[in-house]
Amino acid sequence: MRYVEAAGVRLSAIGLGCWQFGAKEWGYGRSYADDEAGRIVERALELGINLFDTAEVYARGESERILGRALVGHRAEAFIATKHLPLLPLAPIVVRRGRASLVRLGVDHVDLYQLHWPNPVVPLSQQMGGMRELQRSGAITHVGVSNFSLPRWRAAERALRGPVISNQVQYSLAARKPDIDLVPWAAANDRIVIAYSPLAQGLLSGRYDETNAPSGVRLNNALFLADNLRRAAPLLTALREAAAHHGATPAQVALAWVIRRRNVVAIPGASSVAQLEQNAAAADLDLTDDEDARLLAASDAFHPVRGAAAAPKLLERRFRR
Ligand SMILES: NC(=O)c1ccc[n+]([C@@H]2O[C@H](COP(=O)([O-])OP(=O)(O)OC[C@H]3O[C@@H](n4cnc5c(N)ncnc54)[C@H](OP(=O)(O)O)[C@@H]3O)[C@@H](O)[C@H]2O)c1
Repeated sequence: MRYVEAAGVRLSAIGLGCWQFGAKEWGYGRSYADDEAGRIVERALELGINLFDTAEVYARGESERILGRALVGHRAEAFIATKHLPLLPLAPIVVRRGRASLVRLGVDHVDLYQLHWPNPVVPLSQQMGGMRELQRSGAITHVGVSNFSLPRWRAAERALRGPVISNQVQYSLAARKPDIDLVPWAAANDRIVIAYSPLAQGLLSGRYDETNAPSGVRLNNALFLADNLRRAAPLLTALREAAAHHGATPAQVALAWVIRRRNVVAIPGASSVAQLEQNAAAADLDLTDDEDARLLAASDAFHPVRGAAAAPKLLERRFRR
């Protein structure tokens, strides 16, 4: 495993996303929640993964409970990151909900507490006031944000009067917006970008096509519309070519590309221990500059239909099911 050292922490370049744990929308079923998820965490620890990402909203707290149970006896090896769902993030509510996460996780502190989304209505001074109190009492060690723009991330730091060490954002070869400012800023300022959906929810594994699209939560993801799966073909070909060169899989190449960026770590979810093992191994896959450039070119040429343009097709697909 390769580690990223920045902002005073040491994180495995590949972490583990735990949204899948117990979440009905992923459709992995009871045995996944009861058994496989625990085995995934156990194997992750064996392979040197220390970063585990969950949230109070995932499976309404069940993800935190599953992760907490799986980490019993291994607390010192894990860097636990969880998130506050900021519906009304007034300082006392941030504090109360942060403490509730500790109870579900069965720990006396979490390493990183993140605001899951920006809340533009409640002043950042309130939100970060809650964070500061959690830090002061030792309930959380570090503060992070998620889905924040760069100006808002910096404003959060000013409001906290201390470092907001990370911003967790969607980042992959199919979602490159963080390249504009978040990734360069983090690299230059000793901060960390935590890349979520680094496999574009499985699209970049090359496993899905027009005749075989996933269901569940991914019915809401425009990338899995038939038109976009067609458009993704050249990018998937570029991933397969690089993968063949390394005796790897397209998913591993997609992850290796993300974590090649300075101060970026990725937190892929996994539907099996085998996937987790593959993902962990991607930390040691060294892409060449040429491969990186070819993947970038293929990514630049990928123009999926998104946003308002994709909405009618997404609705149609939902109703067809
Ligand atoms: N902060 C936020 O707003 C936010 C939003 C989304 C996610 N997240 C976090 O980021 C984590 C990861 O994001 P994500 O789950 O959306 O997307 P992802 O990691 O890009 O995709 C995960 C899915 O890809 C497939 N997969 C994983 N490893 C694979 C492999 N080696 N080969 C082939 N397929 C593989 C699995 O699905 P199948 O096997 O079923 O295809 C898995 O469930 C989440 O667990 C969560 O912790 C945060």
